Amino acid sequence: MNTKEIKLNPENIDKALVAEAGAILARGGVVAFPTETVYGLGANALDEAAVKKIFVAKGRPSDNPLIVHIADEKDVLPLVTEIPEKAKMIMQHFWPGPISIIMNKSEKISDYVSAGLKTVAIRMPSNTVAREIIRAAGVPIAAPSANTSGKPSPTVAAHVREDMLGKIDMIADGGSCSVGLESTVIDVTGEIPTILRPGGITLEMLEAVLGDVHAGKGNVETAETPKCPGMKYKHYAPKAEVTIVEYKTDAASTLASLIAQAKQDGRTVGILTDGKSYAACAADFYIDGGETAEVYASNLFDALRAFDAKGADVIYAPLCWQTPMMVAVRNRIYKAAGNRVIYTEE
Ligand code: TXA
Ligand code: MG
Repeated sequence: MNTKEIKLNPENIDKALVAEAGAILARGGVVAFPTETVYGLGANALDEAAVKKIFVAKGRPSDNPLIVHIADEKDVLPLVTEIPEKAKMIMQHFWPGPISIIMNKSEKISDYVSAGLKTVAIRMPSNTVAREIIRAAGVPIAAPSANTSGKPSPTVAAHVREDMLGKIDMIADGGSCSVGLESTVIDVTGEIPTILRPGGITLEMLEAVLGDVHAGKGNVETAETPKCPGMKYKHYAPKAEVTIVEYKTDAASTLASLIAQAKQDGRTVGILTDGKSYAACAADFYIDGGETAEVYASNLFDALRAFDAKGADVIYAPLCWQTPMMVAVRNRIYKAAGNRVIYTEE
């Protein structure tokens, strides 16, 4: 398949190109587009054949439900049986933005979208390119992250190109994604709202608005998070083996000995740094995540792909921060590491 690539400047969106993207979606095609979290792989959520194409392009297991994206709040009601009070509060405070709300689905949402669940996740992105494309399509858009299943989510169009060229109708390049991690997923179908996947809207931010919120299992990701099917699959995994080094004040000497050993074994080593210099550790490559959790979040997936491109066999990721955003960061990087972690007293 020929994949058309277009560029959209968020400051000055080309209406004709947006209309073209919208038309492809409306007639059942697949378009990758930027959001503030990660790039999405969009198709008409009301068209089963179109939704199936997403699963094929990603190689995604069919028991993993999709998030439905809308451009305007009024578009939620037809997709759900009712909008619970807590959902209204979340929408009012955090939409448009990086949070998906799980509600009971209406008959409009097929089992292909919800993977047979009675619920549907809905999100209104804040990224203007995303919203304009959805609006142009004139239908709700089902969109998982636009990566091949199992790989790190794409945060720039080049990542999407790597995974999707020749497999989808269009890639809309709208620059880099500001948050860089997928949306918070919150279930409001029960008594107390429950976070199923941590993201840019943190537990603390939600508690400030909603009162009681269950943190879910989001920060200790294991194979069993039954309510959010996607969490059980292999995720975010670069080719290199990732190991997290949790430290107290300084990871340098621990890293130096780990790296010396890895090199002795003939392995090429990278360090994903946390704003500090580990130059003395003698790694082969360094990529800096940044000096705050927010910056680190926005760089993480790109860094994982970049280490692969450089040919790293092993990546060490020193971490010590304990801020609200780190829950989402740790959730993703622990998965990338297959939960490989070393704790040091340093
Ligand atoms: O930021 C995001 O959410 C991005 C952008 C494109 O919007 N999308 C995204 O979609 O991350 P995806 O498919 O990669 O992840 C969706 C997650 C999966 O873990 C899935 O299992 C969960 O949301 N999910 C979707 N619908 C659900 C439902 N009805 N109940 C429970 N979990 C659901
Ligand atoms: Mg994904």
